Amino acid sequence: MSDLAPAWSLAQSCVLRTDLGSLYHCDCMELLPALADASVDLWFADPPFNLAKDYGDGVTDRLGTADYLAWMRAWLLEGVRLLRPGGSLFVFNLPRWNVEAGHVLNEAGLLFRHWIAIDIKYSLPIAGRLHPAHYSLLYYSKGRPARFSRPRIPVPVCRHCGGDIKDYGGHRDKLHPDGINLSDVWYDISPVRHRTTKRRAANELSEKLLERVLEIASQPGDVVLDPFGGSGTTYAVAERMHRHWIGVELGDCEPILRRLSGRKPDVTPPRRGDAANGMQRPGVTPSLRRDAAKGTHRGDT
Ligand SMILES: C[S@@+](CC[C@H](N)C(=O)[O-])C[C@H]1O[C@@H](n2cnc3c(N)ncnc32)[C@H](O)[C@@H]1O
Repeated sequence: MSDLAPAWSLAQSCVLRTDLGSLYHCDCMELLPALADASVDLWFADPPFNLAKDYGDGVTDRLGTADYLAWMRAWLLEGVRLLRPGGSLFVFNLPRWNVEAGHVLNEAGLLFRHWIAIDIKYSLPIAGRLHPAHYSLLYYSKGRPARFSRPRIPVPVCRHCGGDIKDYGGHRDKLHPDGINLSDVWYDISPVRHRTTKRRAANELSEKLLERVLEIASQPGDVVLDPFGGSGTTYAVAERMHRHWIGVELGDCEPILRRLSGRKPDVTPPRRGDAANGMQRPGVTPSLRRDAAKGTHRGDT
């Protein structure tokens, strides 16, 4: 990892080193400028969504729109600089913010690959708007992608009767035995909310999502950077899939350290996603609120 290590002044922020990766406890905007140009093969970012969530001391999730956009632009441009030619960049966010992120990346000259819609398993209706039913995962590359593999997924079936959900127009028997090609709409990513797996009260992405991203756009030995560590999902998956990784978290790093050392989670999942609070609007009926409390939104992902 020595060629990936940032300037010595940041060494004191390094709270974990493994054979494959390093975790820094600091603001990502302190770490990123210290890293060398074109040193990263895959960038994955799952930033705070500016929903006024509580990420703990020192972390703000309540910025004015202009400030949030300026902040997002700053770290996105660091991502563009750090990517090797052919490297890939993914950003997970609300459609509202990813429209803006796409604009920054287009202007910076990256190549648009996909707007991947990730089905939200449960979300609240918002008065006067269509029902929000997906998160956005932006996928760009720096020129023609050096890595790309297209995963296959099992043929989707009805969980009640086991029959196919889609009609394959009489060509069902010609489907590939390993399943269908992955599309840009992902219905099979479940939120993380079980006591045995959840590692951080606020947010946590499913390992399945990260496995898929790494499978699509990286190979063993590549360098993966995630500037918003959270519970360390990206780093845990990178370890398992034999990728080098660079991690950084401004808030509490203990959940990541616990996870990477193989200790069990010690978080009690909240009964409801707290983003649901932020999305409640006058006009939402009490029964809908009760239903939402059983489900999840960004707070449980
Ligand atoms: C949405 S969570 C990431 C969750 C992560 N993908 C996972 O699966 O666990 C965003 C994280 O970014 C952290 N964060 C916010 N601002 C940051 C900054 N400027 N530098 C580094 N980390 C930051 C927050 O503390 C939070 O843990």
